[in-house]
Amino acid sequence: MNETLERWSTRRAFILAVTGAAVGLGNIWRFPYITGENGGAAFLLLYIAFVLLLGLPVMMAEIMVGRAGRRSPVQSLGHLAAQAGASSRWRWLGLFGAFTVFCILSFYSVVSGWSIEFLVISINGGFVGASPAEIGAGFDAFLADPARMIFNHTLFLIMTMLVVSAGVAKGLERLNNLLMPLLYLLLLLLAGYAATTEGFGPALAWLFLPDVSAVTPLVVMHAMGHAFFTLAVGACALMAYGAYMPDHQSLPRAAGAVAVLDVTVALLAGIAIFSVVFAQGMDPGEGPGLMFVTLPIAFAQLPWGALWLSIFFLLLLLATWTSSINLAEPMVATLQGMGLKRGHAAAIVGLAVWLVGLLTVLSFSTLAEWRPMFGMNAFELVSTIPPEIFLPLGGLLIAIFAAWVMPEAAARRALGVGPGGFTLWRGLVRWVAIPLTLVVLVAGLA
Ligand code: PFF
Repeated sequence: MNETLERWSTRRAFILAVTGAAVGLGNIWRFPYITGENGGAAFLLLYIAFVLLLGLPVMMAEIMVGRAGRRSPVQSLGHLAAQAGASSRWRWLGLFGAFTVFCILSFYSVVSGWSIEFLVISINGGFVGASPAEIGAGFDAFLADPARMIFNHTLFLIMTMLVVSAGVAKGLERLNNLLMPLLYLLLLLLAGYAATTEGFGPALAWLFLPDVSAVTPLVVMHAMGHAFFTLAVGACALMAYGAYMPDHQSLPRAAGAVAVLDVTVALLAGIAIFSVVFAQGMDPGEGPGLMFVTLPIAFAQLPWGALWLSIFFLLLLLATWTSSINLAEPMVATLQGMGLKRGHAAAIVGLAVWLVGLLTVLSFSTLAEWRPMFGMNAFELVSTIPPEIFLPLGGLLIAIFAAWVMPEAAARRALGVGPGGFTLWRGLVRWVAIPLTLVVLVAGLA
């Protein structure tokens, strides 16, 4: 396969696309509940350290490989490995990435479907005047109703696959451009409101005063996995986007901007959500339902609550949409590289993801107690193992490929930095990111 000629239309478009991939459920839904389950501040600090030490350099490596290869991930890896005289088995890394995003998308689509449901309820004013207990019970009833969840899961996958089959749409680039600032504004507003509640102080303490005794190897592994997940690194998905990156754009600057934007969203969401949790005397370790219960409770108290809540779930939906497109892209690009039409590839991927997604749907009702592996049910498996083990493992291999296998000249050109910058980046990948990922993975698994 030859080099792709497709490019993001502007530098900004690239940054927005990557930010769109990074900012999603990981920041607004997963970050607060994972932090809640892992003891708060210590987890938060570890996660930020991992974003800086691992996430950022490996993200640069991943985009760099894509930009150097200018093909689908599988083919870029094969092509660059051949150039370097290395084994053609590096292509398997691209397939492993495709498997990872497949698993992730299967639950991502279901949970994104929850925001469709909540958007509709909010628009209809369904939460206004409801007590916290009623809101909690409503969410439980929703989880126990597979038909409603399947409907939303189907709708969300169709939305995703339509965009992907049209090519990474200019329309979405523009939409992102307009809506991401709005998402920040709303989160700021929510965090501002949170500051007026009595839960604000306890929330800040919970988020920023670490309890070192809460740190176990498993917590460290969770934090590392979450850093990869939230930055969308480790599954070759950003490699796919890197292939379309314009030549004259600073890669480190783009990656740095994305990391800052991404962490800010998580922090704002965390402050907003935990303030409500503590103000209402709820349990921060409540799990995946956390956001879907706390936010309606908070908004139900605010003037214009139904309106704010509707806007919020709309933005959340858009944020997850831009991430799910990124999740689907490497699978579709790979099938396309194997000779399929883009539309057909998208249909096949969509159907397969839909089917496997049913397991997640049923994990909240019929199959809740079906625990095929590690004592986890299907939802727990796909929402834990791929983010926390596959992504770091994939990131590790991408880092090894970028910093040890690729010829230096090609890597430096694609990274677009001077000799000093290159040495710094490669040193960080070789001597910090790679060993640290290995140690944390091994310790966490042990
Ligand atoms: N970064 C996305 C989020 O935080 O919701 C999830 C994600 C997208 C993970 C793409 C992995 C990936 F390849």
